[in-house]
Amino acid sequence: MKKNSLKENIITNIFDNYKDINILYIINKLLYTLIGKECKFFYISGPGSSPSKVYMFKDEESKMYAVKICDTNISRVSLLKEVNNMESLTPYLKGHLPKIIYVGTYENYELMISECFGIDNFYTSLISCKKPINYYFKIWNNILNEIMKMWKTSIDYDYKQNKNPRNNTERISRIENGVFCSKYNEYKLKSISDCKIIINGKEYQSLNDTFDEIKNISSPTFGITCHGDPQPSNIIISNKNKWYLVDWEWSGKNHDFRLMFSHLYGWWVTRMINIKNTPEFIVENNKLIINYEICKNELIDKFQLISNKVLKKYFDISVQDEKDINRFLALLYLGDIRFLDIWDKPDYLPILIGEATKTINYLKFQSEDINLNFTYKNEGDEYE
Ligand SMILES: Nc1ncnc2c1ncn2[C@@H]1O[C@H](COP(=O)(O)OP(=O)(O)OP(=O)(O)O)[C@@H](O)[C@H]1O
Ligand SMILES: [Mg+2]
Repeated sequence: MKKNSLKENIITNIFDNYKDINILYIINKLLYTLIGKECKFFYISGPGSSPSKVYMFKDEESKMYAVKICDTNISRVSLLKEVNNMESLTPYLKGHLPKIIYVGTYENYELMISECFGIDNFYTSLISCKKPINYYFKIWNNILNEIMKMWKTSIDYDYKQNKNPRNNTERISRIENGVFCSKYNEYKLKSISDCKIIINGKEYQSLNDTFDEIKNISSPTFGITCHGDPQPSNIIISNKNKWYLVDWEWSGKNHDFRLMFSHLYGWWVTRMINIKNTPEFIVENNKLIINYEICKNELIDKFQLISNKVLKKYFDISVQDEKDINRFLALLYLGDIRFLDIWDKPDYLPILIGEATKTINYLKFQSEDINLNFTYKNEGDEYE
């Protein structure tokens, strides 16, 4: 049985690589037809949250091209639609969007070729410490200013939930299903969703109660235009220290700025938090017991402070907004559980459940546990 699955694995790998070589050959020909120059494949980007792949090519003069490839059998917004969605951003973010050179299909693949100004995104550049740390703070400040300026100038009071590119009701139910199908140790989360959760000795509400509270997110009073997934791995840092937004799958009008802000703020946590030991995750007497210790480093604090400061510069945040940002934040933590396998970080599952639980509990009790919820602080240095 084991032998067979190993063999199947090897065969699948060979087949995948063969498909890759085949597709690389096709792209090579395509690039030659489009730009009249021989291009060489030199880099493939790391995994995002989906099975699409991005290959980088260089021409004879070292000009770079990014080729995004999606398998049309895998359900995802089509690349053609992604490019159309990107156009909603062009009036606001000129100079921060790479030009599209080609979109088309080949057999069961969709291909999109765009300008490429560097192989690093904000996240890969930051974690490999390529630049001085103040550089990242300055750029983050600049990105947030540009994004929030776009929100401010695109405010539309005729907000319609069903026109939001990231429809809440659908998203919450997608995340709920994904979380409930996940497993940790021998437990399927669905089977323990009604258990009260004890985190580091203190009792909190169950996962079902957390989802019920998340469903209380109110409608925003206005919609805004936004990128839709504004997170550091979708920001390309160029060799000339400029930044560009990619991955426009959810871009468009009628976004909820509280959801967008929760990602700008909370993304640092889900990618950059460290855990001290393997967490404990036990079910006893119908209670889920989770014990863990995390290190929230100064970088996360700094990026979050910059986010808060810029938010305050452009928007007045009501108590309701603050609560809804926290609901979105809890949803972000829970949603990332679905990607832990791809990221090879299985032991973050108890932490994401724990922090989502505490974030929702904070809405009611404002407890003083060390928490990864959103609080509207207003300190920090200027980076302009
Ligand atoms: N034009 C580009 N120039 C440089 N790098 C790019 C470009 N487009 C994509 N990348 C790199 O490839 C990575 C993955 O691309 P992208 O974000 O578009 O897709 P994804 O997040 O993997 O998938 P999906 O859009 O399906 O969620 C990015 O994080 C970025 O590092
Ligand atoms: Mg992406």
